[in-house]
Order: sequence, then structure tokens, then C-alpha cells
Amino acid sequence: MKNVLIIGCGRIAGLNEDDPFRKKPCSHIGAYLSNPAFDVKGVYDIQQEASETFANKFGIKGRYQDIGKALSDIKPELVSIAVPYEFNSEIVQTVAQHINRPKMIFCEKPIANSLQSAEEMVRVCRENEVLFYINNRRLTEIYMKLEKIFQSDLEGDAITVNAWCSSGLHAVGIHMIDLLRKIFGDVDWVKATLEEETVQSLPYSDNYTIEDPRVNAQIAFKNGIIGNFINTALTAFTYFEMEILCRKGKIRVSDNGNVLELFKTKTPSTSTLSYSLDKKKIFKPRNNKTLFTKIAEELADAEYDGLEHPLSAKHGLESYRILDALVRSSDNKTVVSINS
Ligand SMILES: NC(=O)c1ccc[n+]([C@@H]2O[C@H](COP(=O)([O-])OP(=O)(O)OC[C@H]3O[C@@H](n4cnc5c(N)ncnc54)[C@H](O)[C@@H]3O)[C@@H](O)[C@H]2O)c1
Repeated sequence: MKNVLIIGCGRIAGLNEDDPFRKKPCSHIGAYLSNPAFDVKGVYDIQQEASETFANKFGIKGRYQDIGKALSDIKPELVSIAVPYEFNSEIVQTVAQHINRPKMIFCEKPIANSLQSAEEMVRVCRENEVLFYINNRRLTEIYMKLEKIFQSDLEGDAITVNAWCSSGLHAVGIHMIDLLRKIFGDVDWVKATLEEETVQSLPYSDNYTIEDPRVNAQIAFKNGIIGNFINTALTAFTYFEMEILCRKGKIRVSDNGNVLELFKTKTPSTSTLSYSLDKKKIFKPRNNKTLFTKIAEELADAEYDGLEHPLSAKHGLESYRILDALVRSSDNKTVVSINS
């Protein structure tokens, strides 16, 4: 069994388990408690009351006011970090350089709040031989299925992609950027315009802040595909959707990421109007495994953190590089090339 220390005792660390709209497990502790490979030995939060409440709620013995003491006592194999992302860098560096550093760190997205700290975090973990993972949506059933069908039914032959999501780039957009990288590969350049309208807060996005930028952008991939990416805080509803237009049809994720629809060309007759798309095929996730169930399975067997690993922090860093380029492009009103 892997001893686990959880840092940050808020919603995604565990309190989301009380939300009846979410399929369970839907949090760090939910994932570890439902997988026999893990034993959560302790929790730490900067607010003592938060760690006490959390530990009592989930029956965890260790509750700490100091990260160093927690690491020395527990000697965890896995440290799971779920704090506001501006603190990720400091915490990851403290944990990775500690004498009782864990074999691996799993940290919430976005990896950091600046490209420089993201690079530093990856460097420090590499130098201290700590496997470093960042949460993302690569293991989501619907996006795994989308990629499979895109390759098999539509021959991976995309013309363009439209991707839309609500909230801000750090709060939600980074997930879409990462999925676009997963499907289309490395990015060549970006061109973005900032969404100017001030939005103070969003009822459906707890981690959105007024400072979090939103963009309307073009993203050009090294494979020649140029896609459109819109991340806006102006809708009154939450959404996260993508549509890939291909030579022989199109595939889209609709219903806020819950439904996958495939449209293929039909066999044409003599009418020009018959050169159209057939009735759509609908796929819904079977929901037998939530994202956090899959994450726990990946972490239970984790032996490396190269780019082939779906949770590798290297993806977290490369996706943050695109986020940073989008912001620079919109600030300077220029096309920004990506040099990773
Ligand atoms: N992967 C996802 O889909 C997803 C979803 C929600 C949130 N997140 C990310 O998870 C992180 C946490 O979000 P949340 O909604 O759980 O926030 P939250 O506010 O509910 O919880 C954060 C907790 O961290 C504690 N904290 C703050 N600073 C700390 C520090 N320096 N050291 C230790 N503890 C500290 C707070 O006291 C709080 O209890 C954010 O970075 C967010 O981007 C990811």
C-alpha cells in the first residue's frame, strides 16, 4: 500500500464528494479511499480548522500544521496537492527537496501561475527523482472515445477544430488546451484576442477569478491543422465542448462534455443534395469509472512521468506554455510561435 499525504483540504481534495451532481469518486481522497493501493495517512491545510474538519469527515488520523513534519512522520510515497494554484510551485519545491520526499507528487491543474515557476517545478522534481504528475482530462472516457473514433471512423483526417469552454484560462481553459494537444499534437503558433468585458465571479466556476484571462484564439498545430479556441466567461451556463471537422464527416462532444456525436458522409445518389451527412451516431459514457477512479489506477502503477504518461507534469508544463503564449499574443497583438 502507498502511504498518501494530502495537501489542501478543500473541494477537489474531498469536499466535492458531498455534491449530489457529481459521480463518485470525484476528488483526491475519494479516489484513494476507493482504491486498495492507497492508504491516506494524513492531511495538511494552511487553515487548521479545514484539515481538522476534513480529517474527521474522512476518518484520517494524521492532521498536520507543518508540511515538513507531515513528510517526516508519514514518509509518504505519494503527496497529493489540491491548493489554489498560485501556491503549487512553493509546495511542490518544498516537498520535492525534503529529505523524506515522496516517490511521486500528484498536483492539481494548472501546474502553476507562471511559465517560469512551471519550468522550475519540473526541473526540481527531475533533479530530486520525484515522479511529477498533474491532473488533466486526458483519461476522461468521452475524450478517449472521441480520439478512437476520430482515428478509426474519420481516419484522423481533420480540416479544423472548434473548441469552446466557459470560465477562465487557468480555471478551465487549460483543460481544453491540454486535450487539443492530446488530439492534434504539438502547437506551432497561436494568435489570440483578450475577452475585455469584466466578469467579477461565476456561479458555476469556483476557481474563476477576475484576473483569469479569457481569449478568442487561433491555435496552429505542427501537423498543419488550424483550430479555433474560445474561452469566455460571458455565458450564464457552464460548458466544455469540441467539434472536429473532417474530410469525411465530423465528430463533436456536446452537452457540456457528456455526449459524443459522430456524423459520417452517406453513400451519395444522383442528387447533389445527397452529398451530405448521414444520421448521427450517439455515444454516451458508460460511467462505470469516473476520471478520479482512472487517475488512482494510473497512480497505483506509476513508474515514469515521460510524455507518454497521460498525467505527466510535462504535459502540464507544455499546456501551460500554450496558455502563456495565448496571453502574450493577446497582450502584444501578435502571432506567438511556440518553442518548447
Ligand atoms: N482538475 C479539476 O477539474 C479541478 C477542479 C476544481 C479545482 N481544481 C484545482 O484545484 C485547486 C484547488 O481548488 P479547490 O476548488 O479545491 O479550492 P478550495 O478553495 O476548495 O480548497 C483549497 C484548500 O487549500 C487550502 N490552502 C490554501 N493555501 C494553502 C497553502 N499554501 N498550503 C496548504 N493549504 C492551502 C485552503 O485553506 C483550502 O482548504 C485549484 O488550483 C484548482 O485550479 C481542479
